[in-house]
Amino acid sequence: MPKMNSIYTPKQAVITKIIEETPTIKTLVLKPEEEFSFSTGQFIELTYPGKGEAPFTPSSDPNKKEEFEVTIMKVGRITALFHQAKVGQILGLRGPLGKGYPLDSFVGKELLIVGGGVGLAPLRSLIYALFSRIEDFKKIIICYGAKTPQDIVYKYQIEEFKKPENVELRLTVDKADQNWQGNVGVVTTLLDNLPLNSSQAVSVVCGPPIMMKFTTWKLLESGFLEENIYLSMEKNMSCGLGKCGHCRLGRFYVCKDGPVFKYSEIKDIEDIWD
Ligand SMILES: Cc1cc2nc3c(=O)[nH]c(=O)nc-3n(C[C@H](O)[C@H](O)[C@H](O)COP(=O)(O)OP(=O)(O)OC[C@H]3O[C@@H](n4cnc5c(N)ncnc54)[C@H](O)[C@@H]3O)c2cc1C
Ligand code: FES
Repeated sequence: MPKMNSIYTPKQAVITKIIEETPTIKTLVLKPEEEFSFSTGQFIELTYPGKGEAPFTPSSDPNKKEEFEVTIMKVGRITALFHQAKVGQILGLRGPLGKGYPLDSFVGKELLIVGGGVGLAPLRSLIYALFSRIEDFKKIIICYGAKTPQDIVYKYQIEEFKKPENVELRLTVDKADQNWQGNVGVVTTLLDNLPLNSSQAVSVVCGPPIMMKFTTWKLLESGFLEENIYLSMEKNMSCGLGKCGHCRLGRFYVCKDGPVFKYSEIKDIEDIWD
């Protein structure tokens, strides 16, 4: 029988490595059966064969074509299955889907990246993409907040994130332990006294809805323009292709028109932070 190929048919991808990031977050390294590429900020539908699929944003370097990574927080049924998966297991992959970050429009600007919890996953892919052409950007400030020091993802890469001369990294935790010497407080506490011109700078924010809400308000207060704040929106999804209507956000479909939106595009939609 000829192989059926449709937009709904997942390609296969084998798990080659599993990284335990935190007690509730794992990164799966996946090798697709055929070459797969994505733009930073786009997402995929990852299938657990016979059980279902869920959307995730690749967290790896978009310039790497052989393998890619997804960083998954365990919150429910499907994510628990992905957490139990083993090296060698075959998963399904649909995508890349949606629209990513408009990197070329960031050229020559000062950038502020704000992440909370597992929201650093898409932002790590963005950081790799920016670092691969670092001289194109005036300055990059990365602010990241986690609940506790244990909950910080990609701990093994912190030094790498700080390396380029025009990059500053600020970290915070909601609750410190006895070894933590850094900032304590929610991520918005990192946004005071930013060494950049906020009326010209671009900000990219990803994290839980409440974090994105308070971060956006703080950025507006600090002089960032609505059209220079980029948010990664999450809605329940099904088709991922703009056909089923599950992910409607006002006049948009998050899967097709997003998941990355400018705040100015969506600010008048009632339920953006739900
Ligand atoms: C475009 C897009 C990209 C995404 N990228 C990532 C990613 O890179 N990494 C990642 O870990 N997740 C990501 N998510 C979220 C992920 O898809 C959901 O966490 C997953 O679908 C939950 O499935 P589940 O069956 O395990 O949980 P469900 O059974 O659907 O939910 C269980 C419980 O968890 C809550 N819940 C669901 N989603 C979330 C969430 N995101 N955060 C906190 N609580 C939640 C539900 O309200 C419910 O109470 C993304 C979502 C979208 C739309
Ligand atoms: S998930 Fe079907 S329209 Fe977006």
